[in-house]
Amino acid sequence: MRTQVGIIGAGPAGLLLSHLLHLVGIDSVILEARDRPYVEGRIRAGVLEQGTVDVLNDTGLGARMNREGLLHHGTTLRFRGRNHHIDFVDLTGKAVMVYGQHEVVKDIIAQRLADGGKIEFEAADVAVHGIESDKPWITWRDKAGKDHRLDCDFIAGCDGFHGICRPAIPASIQKVYERVYPFGWLGILARSKPVQDELIYNNHARGFALFSMRSPEITRLYLQCLPDEDIANWPDERIWEELHLRLKGEDKLNLAEGPIIQKSVTPMRSFVCGPMRHGRLFLAGDAAHIVPPTGAKGMNLAVADVRYLCRALETFYKKNSGDLLGGYSDLCMRRIWKAQRFSWWMTSLLHKFDERNAFENEVQLAELDYVVSSRAAKTSLAENYVGLPFEDQ
Ligand code: APR
Ligand code: PHB
Repeated sequence: MRTQVGIIGAGPAGLLLSHLLHLVGIDSVILEARDRPYVEGRIRAGVLEQGTVDVLNDTGLGARMNREGLLHHGTTLRFRGRNHHIDFVDLTGKAVMVYGQHEVVKDIIAQRLADGGKIEFEAADVAVHGIESDKPWITWRDKAGKDHRLDCDFIAGCDGFHGICRPAIPASIQKVYERVYPFGWLGILARSKPVQDELIYNNHARGFALFSMRSPEITRLYLQCLPDEDIANWPDERIWEELHLRLKGEDKLNLAEGPIIQKSVTPMRSFVCGPMRHGRLFLAGDAAHIVPPTGAKGMNLAVADVRYLCRALETFYKKNSGDLLGGYSDLCMRRIWKAQRFSWWMTSLLHKFDERNAFENEVQLAELDYVVSSRAAKTSLAENYVGLPFEDQ
């Protein structure tokens, strides 16, 4: 087999890249380790920045998102049991869309298949070769046990944090920046009506809690927990009890309980690896960087990466220039580091850190108090949350 761009991974990064390339006449093939129901059912975060919404709309992927997504004009920061509203539209003129990442994934897969796109699910033992040459290739085994080879001009490593592409770049030229947090998030999806129509980021002495949602019938809730928390220690009753404890206060939130339809624990880390290019291999999305979910930036960063990558590849094919490909990593890194800073800051502002002393805890509360009482500070939070502008426009 032969294609122009061989893409590894059918998460948001790989799928959107394939779609964007198709729109500018560049052929690609996606190789994905898991099967389609798994990829389409994987529950992840769900806040889309305005720029992400625009990319999906501008490229014909927005129809279901506009029908089923929930447009949020602001969010609530809650501490000492009181709510403080941050009005994104008033502060920045922009909003965010709450629409599950797996719904985005379903929409892109459907569009790729309708457009004749090639996605090879259940591809085992995927390996990249010749990335330092101008004729790289990928090998894999299909589910019937047959071996394949895909020759390409470029390889896009969109295979997430645990993929094979990042390790294919020699360690000697890679720099890794990492911070592992001493906590994780226990997340649930519950069949219960969201009792308020925007998210609540809640700082509490027992630990952080987040109130979110997916639809008028489904609530999404998170609790700060141990990074290696055993989910078996959290029967449904304990989860509800803890949520009620963390969300009670002067401003009442009468959380509606309902059957829990999914629960999981996610450890939290900040991670950046660069450069995102080696020879003809380009990394995008979680393959190169991870953010803690507090800033809701993960999928949005993946979208920004592949948007830049598509433009760079288009310039290569249409103008015979490798300049944008050469600048790809640096351009992505500028956005990535700003998103890292924001995600780290939101995490520091809202979580309980066992190693902090009473002084540091008061400073944290004072910072929250400052943020919600200063228009300048609220604007800074809001403009990062709704998404900084793309730098190549
Ligand atoms: N071969 C083929 N596919 C692989 C391999 C491999 N060796 N390893 C991983 N994959 C696939 C995974 O099964 C997954 O479908 O690569 C895909 C990577 O997708 P994501 O993890 O969703 O990463 P990305 O597309 O970069 O999206 C980033 O996902 O993790 C969230 O919070 C993150 O929202 C962010 C978004
Ligand atoms: C979610 O709804 O899953 C969600 C929302 C906001 C976040 C993280 C996750 O910051």
